Amino acid sequence: MGISPRALFRLLISLQLSFLLPSLSLAEEETEEQVSSLLRKMTLEEKAGQMTQLTLGAISSSEATSENPEAHQFDMDKLRHALINKHVGSILNVHNVAFSAKQWRKVLTQVQTLATEETRLQIPILYGIDSVHGANYVREGTLFPHNLGLAATRNPLLVERCHAVTALETRSAGIPWNFGPSLDVGRQPVWSRYVETFGEDVHITTVMAEASVRGLQGSSLSSRKAVAATAKHFLAYSLPTSGQDRTQTLLPEHYLREYFLPPFKNAIEQGVQAIMVNSGEVNGVPIHASHEMLSVLLREELKFDGVIVSDWEDVKKLHNLHRVAPDLKEAVRMSVHAGIDMCMAPYDFHFSNNLIKLVKEGAIPESRLDESVRRILRMKFSLGLFNEPVPPASSAGEIGSEEAHQLSLQAARESLILLKNKGVLPLEKKGQILLTGPGCHSLAALHGSWSYTWQGTDEEAYPEGLQTILQSFNDGYGRENVLWARGAQWDGSTDFDYAMNKARNADVVVCVLGEKPSTETPGNIPDLSMPDNQLRLVRRLATGKPLILVLLGNRPRLITEIAGHCHAIVYAGQPGPHGGKALYELLTGQFNPSGRLPFTYPRHPNSLLTYDHKHSDSVGPDKETPGFNPLYEFGHGLSYTSFAFSDLKLKSSTLTKSDEILLSVRVSNTGSRAGKETVHVFTRDLFASITPQVKRLRAFSQIELKAGESKVVTFKIPVKELAYHNLESTSVLEPGEFDVMVGDLTERILIK
Ligand code: BGC
Repeated sequence: MGISPRALFRLLISLQLSFLLPSLSLAEEETEEQVSSLLRKMTLEEKAGQMTQLTLGAISSSEATSENPEAHQFDMDKLRHALINKHVGSILNVHNVAFSAKQWRKVLTQVQTLATEETRLQIPILYGIDSVHGANYVREGTLFPHNLGLAATRNPLLVERCHAVTALETRSAGIPWNFGPSLDVGRQPVWSRYVETFGEDVHITTVMAEASVRGLQGSSLSSRKAVAATAKHFLAYSLPTSGQDRTQTLLPEHYLREYFLPPFKNAIEQGVQAIMVNSGEVNGVPIHASHEMLSVLLREELKFDGVIVSDWEDVKKLHNLHRVAPDLKEAVRMSVHAGIDMCMAPYDFHFSNNLIKLVKEGAIPESRLDESVRRILRMKFSLGLFNEPVPPASSAGEIGSEEAHQLSLQAARESLILLKNKGVLPLEKKGQILLTGPGCHSLAALHGSWSYTWQGTDEEAYPEGLQTILQSFNDGYGRENVLWARGAQWDGSTDFDYAMNKARNADVVVCVLGEKPSTETPGNIPDLSMPDNQLRLVRRLATGKPLILVLLGNRPRLITEIAGHCHAIVYAGQPGPHGGKALYELLTGQFNPSGRLPFTYPRHPNSLLTYDHKHSDSVGPDKETPGFNPLYEFGHGLSYTSFAFSDLKLKSSTLTKSDEILLSVRVSNTGSRAGKETVHVFTRDLFASITPQVKRLRAFSQIELKAGESKVVTFKIPVKELAYHNLESTSVLEPGEFDVMVGDLTERILIK
């Protein structure tokens, strides 16, 4: 078992061996001393309270509404009771709908004033929020495409910049802690939170997660531009076997380590402050009760010494949902024994009340609480909350600046993926265009969940001035040239005749399909197919006129039966506030699309394989029917120009385990327009002791080329990254031959 630098610090201090302490900075040493001194003064009740997190609604008398986001009021008796009598350490969430920055500062000031002036030890509150794709609960905040769209950009620097804006805007509203990024690897496309992932690939998720954490936390947590990040949800939340949210995952440990652990491991190395626990169960064990996962794996092996926070009401659920604890007291014991530091209770005091009893009965040592409280206090000190519980309004950064919106527009442009183009795009701006489909005039459809409200579906909650796709076309094409008819609704209803009447007068049809935004359990679906009324709409529209399909939504809904009717298809996901404009610009050729699929677009409902499947998955019933036959492959994405790869070269093809693979490839823009191409480098282990995948992505890089231009791109991949987890769940690198692949080019290496 390893020991973290901080634990070592405490040990050496307690043994009066502080001269042996080179590893902590002065600031860290000072923080440790402040934490220790405060901890010594705390009663058992204060410690249990510090580990409790309540939702804002539990201490409020009225909630904000779409018409009046300022309507929120505290129930002062409840707030005082929670902070003064129950010593609550943390609060989360918005109450119903996004607050204005002014309202947020008022809320935070009320909370922090009470905490720092009227509680015995004057400890500030750690306020947390889900800024999932921008500061989405701050009314003036800048929203961005969801993570799936950010992954499609293949632009980690852009992802970092988006998250830096999120941090600045969240902190400027007074909130120092973000429940993000999601590091769940998206390997189950039915899952309602697929859009919150960076897609199916482990490497892309790891790289984008690192960029997100860097953007959120910046170089100093106490900066007024930074927030503490939370890597969530540990572990394997994103692979519910049934596809339904918060249900069981069945997964051998070597796959858990191979596909789900790496982004967390890397984020911990990057200094992520908190980790949120998976609400579901893996192999029959709810993670909130798993000592093996939270203490042995996360604490001891990965050396995570930040705050482990439960997810929503999940300690209670050990009793009333998962049924591994016969009562709430046992649920609390299990979760604390497993390793959680803070319980997102979030409505009552079941956690702290039972925790106090358990310590008094001797079932949990008080020193165990000290460990958790130490981590929570440390985070509060690192965030500078003791010095500045709410940054003064005069120092707050600008929320929703022009620059931030330009960045969001850039992210939207780069996130769009052109899946198909049979000569119709870019559109010539002439004649009449019909905009149709349930997504064509909906802000909710562009934004998705976690947008002003939890599910993002309340159109009234969206600030004025945002444009739907239809409105962007009205602006760009001239209203007189744009026809529109919804044709099909989210609720399953249709109005085909009206839409077909309009279609008769149109020269081009743009049909925007997708799903009503949702997340978590409300987003559970029994069938990945695109809803039937939408499929029927496209079939009706398939008259031979140019038909362009735009896909919005949480996940890749199946479109196999209509894809052939469409002359062009764009996957837009949930591109955010500037998605309408970005789509208009893409379709009319004002920029050259560069998004690449971060997932495999399935063709059939019972064939949801990822690109890095096993060889046996490639075998079909006959020669014409391959086993792996997606509609669009991982990495696919067209451009208005064309690219070619050539001259794939390896510096050396015989390597040892400590070497690096040095490779270069020439990329040429063979078309007539400037554009961006992504080079994906895959490897294939030819033979291994457990079945190797057909390929694995090891590196990617984006390059911009003028028409006719060509450049050489180089990569350095440490050979040790070709290791895999064997049946003993140990990472091994077996000597032997590997293929290195870029596009259609392959070179072979030998690892000795
Ligand atoms: C979600 C988390 C989120 C939390 C707080 C839960 O239901 O699973 O991702 O951070 O709520 O809003």
